[in-house]
Amino acid sequence: MGGVLSALPARTDSERGGGACTIAQISDLHCGGPHFVPTLLERAISEINDLAPDIVICSGDLTTFGFKEEYAQARAFLDRIACPSLVVIPGNHDSRNVGYVHFEELFGDRNSVLRVGEVTVVAVDSSEPDLDHGQIGRGRYRWIEEQFAPPAGFRVFVLHHHLLPVPGTGRERNIVHDAGDAIECLQRAGVNLVLSGHKHVPYAWRLENLFVVNAGTVSSLRLRGNTRPCYNVIEIVEGHVDVWRRYPFHGQERIIRFSTRTLDFEKYTARIEGEVTTRS
Ligand SMILES: [Fe+2]
Ligand SMILES: [Fe+2]
Repeated sequence: MGGVLSALPARTDSERGGGACTIAQISDLHCGGPHFVPTLLERAISEINDLAPDIVICSGDLTTFGFKEEYAQARAFLDRIACPSLVVIPGNHDSRNVGYVHFEELFGDRNSVLRVGEVTVVAVDSSEPDLDHGQIGRGRYRWIEEQFAPPAGFRVFVLHHHLLPVPGTGRERNIVHDAGDAIECLQRAGVNLVLSGHKHVPYAWRLENLFVVNAGTVSSLRLRGNTRPCYNVIEIVEGHVDVWRRYPFHGQERIIRFSTRTLDFEKYTARIEGEVTTRS
């Protein structure tokens, strides 16, 4: 399936029932920096509130330097999100200058578990103070597996850094240092979907039973190549999952669709001008 960008659809009542779940993922807000564009974030939040998702995930880099006033700005924006199920983790920028102290004051634990219906979200802080690289750490593998134990249904794991290399992000230094072991941990845990951010380049992979989806930056002009500010919407409906990339003010396009039963998938490649084509 291909086509041009489509307008944002309203969500029907039938789409809300039957075990359906909608997750909005925003990432890399970068409040306080010279490339932060408040109107993009305001628009994205307005679109998300119109969508009324079941869960909203913010996958790190809320700030630029981890400063208190940047955190306060990020908190003020996130407070406008109407969804009661909000998951927030820090990114590498948030852990600069001891910024994780402000994170804990304003957002609570840096690691969290959320269960909404059949969906379980486990989100971890992959950042390390004053370093750009990240890791999960073998000390957390057992805890992660325990959180995803039955009766967890659809399992979503969230981290800021990449789990797999993402094309168009330059020299590889963005995946967590323990990616191999972490991937095995997530496979053992039966994770269905991994959501991350970090380098502002949206992408999607399938690796064995795992779908790994990266978000772009929602509100920063720190863009690589021809990428554009965007965020993700994940629709889980009756055995299949659609992941949409949304551009604030500019509609959406589907980036991947997969079956939770057979793991068959269709991936859609965005073109620079916004058209999408199917890649089988
Ligand atoms: Fe970032
Ligand atoms: Fe980052």
